[in-house]
Amino acid sequence: MRKPLTVPAVRSRKRSLGHEPLVMVTAYDAPTARIADGAGVDLILVGDSVANVVLGYEDTLSVTVADMAHHVGAVSRARPQALIIGDMPWLSYHRGTADAVANAATLVRAGAQAVKLEGGRKRAEVVEAIVDAEIPVMGHIGLTPQSVHAMGGYRVQGRDAAAAEALVDDAMALVEAGVFAVVLEGVPDVVAARVTEVLPVPTIGIGAGPACDGQVLVMHDLLGLEDRVTPKFVRRYADLKAEATAAVGAYAADVRSGRFPSEAESYHVPGETLDPYGSGRAASA
Ligand code: KIV
Repeated sequence: MRKPLTVPAVRSRKRSLGHEPLVMVTAYDAPTARIADGAGVDLILVGDSVANVVLGYEDTLSVTVADMAHHVGAVSRARPQALIIGDMPWLSYHRGTADAVANAATLVRAGAQAVKLEGGRKRAEVVEAIVDAEIPVMGHIGLTPQSVHAMGGYRVQGRDAAAAEALVDDAMALVEAGVFAVVLEGVPDVVAARVTEVLPVPTIGIGAGPACDGQVLVMHDLLGLEDRVTPKFVRRYADLKAEATAAVGAYAADVRSGRFPSEAESYHVPGETLDPYGSGRAASA
């Protein structure tokens, strides 16, 4: 049995100190949490990507703290050894520190061991307040999906020198505010490498190249359950949507042709008992 991974253990996992890269994956319910944990991942992110990946929304802006708590609860009831991080949804940390702390606490009470929120230096105050309430915080900068409208779409960030330096400043401000790790999403590899080099806490990349201290992918992307869009940074390790569609198709064909269920898949009355429907015949088991 693996030992549960703790926040202090994650905080020190810099590859520059000789550690192997951290592995994070999203999970939104108990079965996917069991898959992630069975595979030995370090961190499970109950991401607000649940909105578009599972709940059918166009973007992540529609999910609420109650939605996130519902999914965090499902993941935590699987009792994974991996550290559970609950994503704070849009507007749950933008309306004052007291509101943000209360919302983070809701996710902790649902089973999260840490929370993640998007944004750089302008979120420093709120990060500090949540950390002050003894709730560990993971930062998330670069392409921040909750800012889709402000960014004018899902665009790679930090492409010029000024924007790259701004990302380094954002990351440092988050570290000073107390984050234990920072997700870097959608930034050029050299920029991610620079942020990783200067930060004393691990960076976890998604579309940020190989230099980060860890990597994160959305579970449904890597399993090929989500195939509507495949960003360049996704590597598909399975084609479960095609397999699942074929399996359900085979079931439908068996039902329609009478091949399902078989005798062996049916319950029978025991041994010599008479047929309960009174046909007078002894029913076979
Ligand atoms: O919600 C999510 O899945 C995320 C990852 C992309 C980092 O925030």
